[in-house]
Parts: sequence; structure tokens; C-alpha cells
Amino acid sequence: MKLRDHTGFPWIFAPIIVPCGAVTLSVPSACADVTSIFRPLSTPAQAVYEISLLTLAICAAIFLVVAGMLVYTIIRFRRRPGDEGREPPQVYGSNQIELAWTVVPILIVFVLILATARTIYDVQGAIPPADAVHATVVGHQWWWEIRYPKLGLITANELHVPVSDTDRRRPTFLRLESADVAHSFWVPQLAGKTDLIPNRVNQMWIEPIQPGTYVGNCAEYCGLQHARMLLRVIAHSPADFERWVAAQQMPPVEDGQARAGRDLFFATSCINCHAIKQTTANGKFGPDLTHLMSRQTLGSGVVTNTRKNLRAWVRDPQHIKPGALMPNMQLTDDELDQVVDYLLTLK
Ligand code: CUA
Repeated sequence: MKLRDHTGFPWIFAPIIVPCGAVTLSVPSACADVTSIFRPLSTPAQAVYEISLLTLAICAAIFLVVAGMLVYTIIRFRRRPGDEGREPPQVYGSNQIELAWTVVPILIVFVLILATARTIYDVQGAIPPADAVHATVVGHQWWWEIRYPKLGLITANELHVPVSDTDRRRPTFLRLESADVAHSFWVPQLAGKTDLIPNRVNQMWIEPIQPGTYVGNCAEYCGLQHARMLLRVIAHSPADFERWVAAQQMPPVEDGQARAGRDLFFATSCINCHAIKQTTANGKFGPDLTHLMSRQTLGSGVVTNTRKNLRAWVRDPQHIKPGALMPNMQLTDDELDQVVDYLLTLK
């Protein structure tokens, strides 16, 4: 076994040391990134963060002890001139050492199991307070359907929730389902990952403590556009959340200006897949469009929701998100303008 080259550096450690260095160097920038699990801003994420720090600290200590002893042994007992033809002393067994390396790992594992079990219990055993918001998130290839059954709301890709403060806790409890394959709901600053599995209901909760937009993504490979199944959680102050709910509960405003586009929309197969509240459009395959223009993005976070992008999306979704289940409707340029004018009224 050749552990050293002429420089005397134990290169066998290079694969271990180099990534660690890269991680250490990248931590400041990763922490500045809003998707970092090391900047939790929600109760379950804080619990996960604390247990991960404890686990990392224990693992780092084990690594330092093991790697330190290994480096010491490699240097101290390296081959020296005059060693030719001689064997090192042969040592068989030591009860003390064997006892130590059996009992110490058992204790370490025991500590990790207890700490982890406590965190899991705290997170999974949480009971919704009376003020909790309840939402159902359904994973689709490749977007998120979001329903608030008690509020009578349906939206997509952007989960709006109130923030919690110490006086009034307003966590949001999520019921996770899938319409097709396995997906995974993950907003790193708010909670750990939980899968959305067909024919099964999973539960999780989030409790942001600061208003703002938290970005996340699908964390389980679910097909061609898995990487573009992005997710936003928008946390409002309680008053702003009530305003958002009230606005979403309104039916769409009829706008005479967009009559031609409206007629075209209802004459094409758009309505087989999309729903618009209080109209004959009640399709279930695609996102609800009742308040389409209140959303920040299109195509589950792929592009910002502007007129230009909306037009490009309706013209050919496959161009923006290849594989998306919405087909190119083959509209002419004039028809596109009309339909987009109508969609722009869905505020
Ligand atoms: Cu949905 Cu990956």
C-alpha cells in the first residue's frame, strides 16, 4: 500500500480534505443564499438546524480523532532506511482498547438517537393550535396545486401563509398529496423535506417568523422537469394575510375590454384543464387561473409573470418548459394577444 509520494503528503486524505475546504470556503456565500438550511426562519427548521449542528459537531470530533490518529500513525511508523527485511512488532489484541472502541461508539450513537428522536417527536408530534392555517398541497408533474379547504381557495405554486409571533402563533399545517408520481416539498428555511406520495397523505407544518418570500423546490426526482418544479412560500403579516385571502376569495372581475379573448379562451380546450371560479372553466389538470396575475411566476417558478412571458408561455409552453403537459394551442398572433389580454384581467 502506497500512502505517500515523494512530498511526504498523505494523498489518500486529499479527497476528504479538499471537499471539506471547499465547504468551509463556501459557507459564507451559502449562508447568504436564502435556500440555506443554516439560516432557519421557522420553528421546525430551527429544530432541524439545531440537531444538524449537534450531529455535525459530533461527526467533526470523530473525524478529527480518527484522521489525527491515522496521520500520526502514517508519519510516526513510516518506512525508514534500515527497515529492509524487518517486520514491525506483531501485537495481538488488547482488552482495554477493544472495550474502548466498542463502548464509546455505542454511547455516541445512543446520544444521537435520543437527540434525534426528541427532535422528530417535537416536529412530527406538533398539534395544530386553533389559529393554525390548513392547506393541502398536491404535487403534479411539474407544478404545485395549493388548496385552502377552510378558506375556499385554490391557487398554484405560491403558498401564502401568515407569520407567527410570540403573542399569536399562526403555523400552517400542510396535507401533502400527489396526483401522479412521488414529489417532495422542500423550503429549506422553513422545514425539512416531506415527500408527496400517490395514494398516501403526508403531513408537515411550517411556521415562518419573518415576512418575506421563501424559495424552495421539489426535492424528489419526478421526471423531465423536476429541476423546474420550483416553489415559493410568501409569509405575510397576519393583517396582510387576511387581505390576501379576501382578494383571492373574490370572483374574477369581468372586463369588457377583453371580451374577444374571453370568448376565445372559453371556445378552446383551455377550459378542459384550467379552472376559473364562477365560470364554466372547471378543468382540474392544470393550475387554477382565477387569480393568475396575482402570482409572481409562471410555469412553477420558471419565468416571472409578465405580459411578455405570459404570451411566450401561451404561444408554446414547450419552448419554456419542454415536457410540460400544456400543449401548444397553435393560436395565431392576434388570437394570442386576445387570450393574453383576457388572462391579464385575472388579477
Ligand atoms: Cu416534483 Cu421533482
